[in-house]
Amino acid sequence: MRILVMGGTWFLGKSIVEEALQRGWDVTTFNRGRSGQDVPGVRALHGDRTEEADLNRLAAQGPWDTVIDTSSSELPPRDVRLAAQALRDAASRWVHVSTVSVYAGWPHQTLTEASEVLECPSDADASFGYTGADGSPTKYGFQKAGGERAVTEAFGERAVFLRPGVILGPGEYVGRLPWWLSRASRGGSVLAPAPADRRIQPVDVRDVAAFAVDQAAASSAGAFNVAHPEGMSFGDFLAACLAVTETDGRPVWVEPDVLVEHGVRQWTELPLWRTHAGVWSVDVGRAVAAGLRCRPLIETIADTWAWLRADGRPVDHPRWAEHGLAAEKEAKILAALASDS
Ligand SMILES: NC(=O)c1ccc[n+]([C@@H]2O[C@H](COP(=O)([O-])OP(=O)(O)OC[C@H]3O[C@@H](n4cnc5c(N)ncnc54)[C@H](OP(=O)(O)O)[C@@H]3O)[C@@H](O)[C@H]2O)c1
Repeated sequence: MRILVMGGTWFLGKSIVEEALQRGWDVTTFNRGRSGQDVPGVRALHGDRTEEADLNRLAAQGPWDTVIDTSSSELPPRDVRLAAQALRDAASRWVHVSTVSVYAGWPHQTLTEASEVLECPSDADASFGYTGADGSPTKYGFQKAGGERAVTEAFGERAVFLRPGVILGPGEYVGRLPWWLSRASRGGSVLAPAPADRRIQPVDVRDVAAFAVDQAAASSAGAFNVAHPEGMSFGDFLAACLAVTETDGRPVWVEPDVLVEHGVRQWTELPLWRTHAGVWSVDVGRAVAAGLRCRPLIETIADTWAWLRADGRPVDHPRWAEHGLAAEKEAKILAALASDS
């Protein structure tokens, strides 16, 4: 197999490259050379995918069996369209990494691939879409839906869309699991979002990568939701963070309305905590039937801790700073709760 990975230097793109190389595939990567390092063993081409001339130069280096696009998280649909049109004759197939946020019902409803997708034109610019008052829908979701449409217009039945929820694992630059691990490592009373038995279903970056690489060589079409089929409870998640960091931390489970009353922001201040009913209710039956296999999340937690201790932060990223609850705010809330009881 001969593949082109758009991106390929960090987190999911890097993991996809490593998986494909391990399978003995011929891998080309395309990025600007700003984030991360080119993985040894690839044919590394550099350029800006928002520039038509760079894309034409890239297309001339083909053909490829499949393009895997991991680099469109911050690009408007019109830029996704530019790349898909430029490469339509240079590749037989396009595997597009999208997101569960494209669904109009996320995070309120249980979702399957047949659920309604947000409407966004394929030539929309970065101004299209909006984020709703309660954080749903999101402008990101509109933009990614428009990106999917752009790829469909260029590749039709030759396109596959992967719609992951939250991706965790070594190399995570968003700072969700890294924050919980660093919080656990400080020990003491840890403010925790009740109920402890609430199921979460983040997925390991290496499992998404293996599935993306499988899909590069498959003949499937359409969309696949990608999340952990079984998931784990928040209680087990936090227990695993405390166990791998080997501290004396003890969760203090606090009801959601009390956390909200104390001004704790869902999703960012306490990463992975969100009260919306459908946030962790994504049906992944189609992906599992097509071969998605997910390791136990405890392995993701342990390997991310090992990575953090060995490498620390791979790159500076603005999203890292958005995540986590300040130690002083947590201490103040815990003290207020203790004095109430
Ligand atoms: N993280 C999650 O939890 C999550 C959840 C659901 C879906 N997703 C989706 O997963 C995909 C992968 O996400 P990611 O965070 O691993 O990667 P990302 O931030 O979307 O992409 C980074 C890669 O793209 C390259 N890149 C960015 N802009 C470029 C440009 N203009 N021209 C050429 N290359 C460019 C970067 O290299 P240079 O900067 O060197 O160019 C880097 O290799 C995204 O589509 C995202 O929407 C992520």
